Amino acid sequence: MRLQKFLAACGVASRRKSEELIKDGFIKVNNTVIKEMGHKIDPNKDIVTYQNKRVTISEKKIYILLNKPTGYVTTVSDQFNRDKVTDLVQINKRIHPIGRLDYNTSGLLLLTDDGELTYKLTHPKHKVEKVYIAKIKGTPSKDNINKFQKGLEIDNYKTQPAYFEILNSQSDMSTVKIIITEGRNRQVRKMCQAIGHPVISLQRIAVGKLNIGNLELGKWRFLTEKEINYLKKL
Ligand code: URA
Repeated sequence: MRLQKFLAACGVASRRKSEELIKDGFIKVNNTVIKEMGHKIDPNKDIVTYQNKRVTISEKKIYILLNKPTGYVTTVSDQFNRDKVTDLVQINKRIHPIGRLDYNTSGLLLLTDDGELTYKLTHPKHKVEKVYIAKIKGTPSKDNINKFQKGLEIDNYKTQPAYFEILNSQSDMSTVKIIITEGRNRQVRKMCQAIGHPVISLQRIAVGKLNIGNLELGKWRFLTEKEINYLKKL
């Protein structure tokens, strides 16, 4: 089995992230650092280690839904030593987030040790709807809402059609509902900025059919079998 596939199957990280770990020299096979991408291992014989711990395939995977507070990073390690979302989920398993939310974004975040599922769900071809509630500066005009809905130019890239609805509007700020099917870095913030209405706060309330419901901020729960099957079939 290819080393990156093995790491993903063990839940160390998504397949893409596992490739980075290999490239950066974090993975040892039989006590030797392996940086070569196509390296093949025998899962029954070879001893693979990451952060000095042996990595093994465990049968039962874990799927968690967290209501992320602001002030946490979704990366598994952080160069500035900021609080990590994985600190909020005290379980004896190495889990990683499916996709990302900014440090200053709150709301629904999925975590798992199923690297294959992460690989599938974060692949650009997957068009899962992500629903956000944002507070933005000012009140956008019909024209600007149209632009947002049709697709905007951000970072030399044209965004896919998106949903935008004003839920309520005050003199200097509006609360809006936004639905996008992509997951580019800081996409909602950049799209709002592009129409001249910067984001004040951002919360994700749903991913596909999965909803944050009344889960308290900072709390998490396991997904139900039905929810897991739903994600696997997406
Ligand atoms: N878009 C953003 O700008 N930030 C997030 O955290 C998620 C989507």
